[in-house]
Amino acid sequence: MTDISALKTELTSEIQAANDLKALDDVRVTVLGKKGRITGLMKTLGQMSPEERKTKGQALNVLKDEIAETIRAQESALKKKEMAARLATETIDITLSPRQQRVGKIHPISPTMEELVTIFGAMGFSVAEGPDIEDDWHNFTALNFPPGHPAREMQDTFFLPEDPEELEEFRKKLLRTHTSSVQIRHMKENEPPFKIVCFGRTYRSDFDMTHTPMFHQMECLYVAKDVTMAHLKGCLTDFVRAFFGIDDLPVQFRPSFFPFVEPGAEVDIGYYKQGDGIKLGKAKDPADQKWMEILGSGMVHPTVLENCGIDPNEYQGFAFGAGIERMTMLKYGIPDLRTFFESDVRWLEHYGFDPLQRPNSATK
Ligand code: DAH
Repeated sequence: MTDISALKTELTSEIQAANDLKALDDVRVTVLGKKGRITGLMKTLGQMSPEERKTKGQALNVLKDEIAETIRAQESALKKKEMAARLATETIDITLSPRQQRVGKIHPISPTMEELVTIFGAMGFSVAEGPDIEDDWHNFTALNFPPGHPAREMQDTFFLPEDPEELEEFRKKLLRTHTSSVQIRHMKENEPPFKIVCFGRTYRSDFDMTHTPMFHQMECLYVAKDVTMAHLKGCLTDFVRAFFGIDDLPVQFRPSFFPFVEPGAEVDIGYYKQGDGIKLGKAKDPADQKWMEILGSGMVHPTVLENCGIDPNEYQGFAFGAGIERMTMLKYGIPDLRTFFESDVRWLEHYGFDPLQRPNSATK
């Protein structure tokens, strides 16, 4: 027994002398490892008398547990000491400038729509919405496209698959071909007067330099008792001049046909050739003035008002619709519509907007 307590004293001081984790582990191996001192003593138990084996065995087991515990205690003391030493020496240099991060860009369609909201908001319009999946009634019939009339084919429509036997024409589901359907929804659900703008996706079966199957449109509708074509001209002129940031941008109205307006007009803005490219604005010499069409407009057709439960003898209105990509391409000089939807990050890097520096007429 004295052997064991002497051994305990010896091992304990060896453990406490270990002053780092590596040294402590070495001690652990020499004591408790396969060839360790306590392990060796355990092996001698087999040659003892049963009596002796019992007392010695118990004492050795106690010793083994105590030593293991001492090692654990020393280990946690050493770890604490190490941590304290690291905390004392390691410091963070908070004066280092932050690493340059790659900042994402905002697709140019979004700032264009935001800018349009700002311009129309300033003119007293509020934003309305409607669904992308429409029915024929809201997209065509209520807008005075007669059933089976070729005017319906003006727009290549994506119809949703359904049993052709089942539905009358005006109930057929489709992807809206224009945002004019939102006019109908708004007029059905609200009492005039109202001034609304709507932005959203529209769909047509078309694909080339200037057409993609999905694109965005803006729609504007103003219905009140005394709205005239003069309001339409004034509003449109102010809007295109504000949007393109050209105070004397020439604007021209050309008679045109859309079933939902009477009279209808296409609106052109002026440009002229400059070098290899073009420049929006008034040409110095009137002979150089050129025109490009940018939107469709007109006075809301009396039948359309009636279809929405509004008395055309009491109310009148104007409406217009424009392609948002086209406006964006003209304003920022983007040559190909298809690139808007190719998800090419290099394109976005070039034409996209810094999230913190977005164009906004309100800040001009
Ligand atoms: N919805 C027409 C289109 O997509 C554009 C349009 C023309 C809208 C005349 C109007 C309008 O509101 O009055 O081609």
